[in-house]
Amino acid sequence: MGGKVTVVGAGFYGSTTAMRLAEFDVFEEVVLTDIVEGKAEGLALDMNQSRPVEGFETKVIGQTTGLDGSGYEAISGSDIVVITAGLPRKPGMSRMDLIETNAKIVRQVAENVAQHAPNAVVIVVSNPLDEMTALTQLATGFPHNRVIGQAGMLDTARFTNNVAEKLGKPVGSVKTLTLGSHGDTMVPVPSRCTVDGQPLSEVMPAEDIEELVVRTRNGGAEVVALLKTGSAYYAPSAAAARMAKAVIEDSGAIMPVCAWVDGEYGISGVYLGVEAEIGREGVRRVVETDLTETELAGLKQAAEAVRAKQADVQDL
Ligand code: NAI
Ligand code: 2OP
Repeated sequence: MGGKVTVVGAGFYGSTTAMRLAEFDVFEEVVLTDIVEGKAEGLALDMNQSRPVEGFETKVIGQTTGLDGSGYEAISGSDIVVITAGLPRKPGMSRMDLIETNAKIVRQVAENVAQHAPNAVVIVVSNPLDEMTALTQLATGFPHNRVIGQAGMLDTARFTNNVAEKLGKPVGSVKTLTLGSHGDTMVPVPSRCTVDGQPLSEVMPAEDIEELVVRTRNGGAEVVALLKTGSAYYAPSAAAARMAKAVIEDSGAIMPVCAWVDGEYGISGVYLGVEAEIGREGVRRVVETDLTETELAGLKQAAEAVRAKQADVQDL
């Protein structure tokens, strides 16, 4: 057991991520921060009181932070920082509607992370995801490999769950993949999907696959519409926590994440959802996979859509 991970933002996403990270029992400390006075401290106390029941030793530390950077000394020496600070969307809103508000929040957080945890791997989850990841890299000045976004793990999990439910199969029998952006240009990749090792196209008609692709692309909005306030957090926090675990364990796991793409797929200079090998340094390398012509065209379209918005966030 060792290492320190910080989760910035103690809302639904941040608090469930902190709880999962603590329950892994691999970190020495989980630090949870928020700007709302006492919120992180209260949640940390509650989480620590679950330790005797759940049987884990990781200590959770709550810390209120100010817009002036006060309190950030608590994150010093963090190996990993997960940024969840920012507003979630409301029914009818797109992730992109959050860009101006969340850019201000994420920039402030990123600058403090750079100052107090200069060697951390940063995992961004605030929306709009691809743009906030790009902004975090700019605001921290960290090398691109040390700033990653979480979206692909979640979108892939939703695709897998959708396929498993439709076929009445265990989720463990199903493998799927999504690439592209965490938004309208998400690229579910049916050609990489299998059920008990068989290609998805052999066990499901094309129109059913298309229906599940559309449902996956709208997976976040489906939850938002049901909840009415706030957005999903159980599946999202599972995804971010697994990424952090892969980093601290230097596991080399290949995961779909939002990573800096530099020539792969003929695309350069943009943060985009791709598969990457994750280790102690963040992204070890982007892993290219075979795509159909349509899937590759979708990925290139996603890259251009994100590139246009990424240019905007520099000035926010
Ligand atoms: P929430 O509203 O429950 O929590 C946000 C927290 O951030 C609040 O506690 C708030 O006080 C805190 N906060 C605001 N400004 C801050 C600052 N400057 N410093 C520290 N903390 C600050 O929202 P929730 O559900 O936790 O979502 C958080 C973000 O994650 C949203 O932007 C949401 O859209 C995004 N999200 C991303 C997903 C992904 O797959 N990438 C999936 C689900 C949500
Ligand atoms: C989600 O996909 C809203 O990005 C959030 O659930």
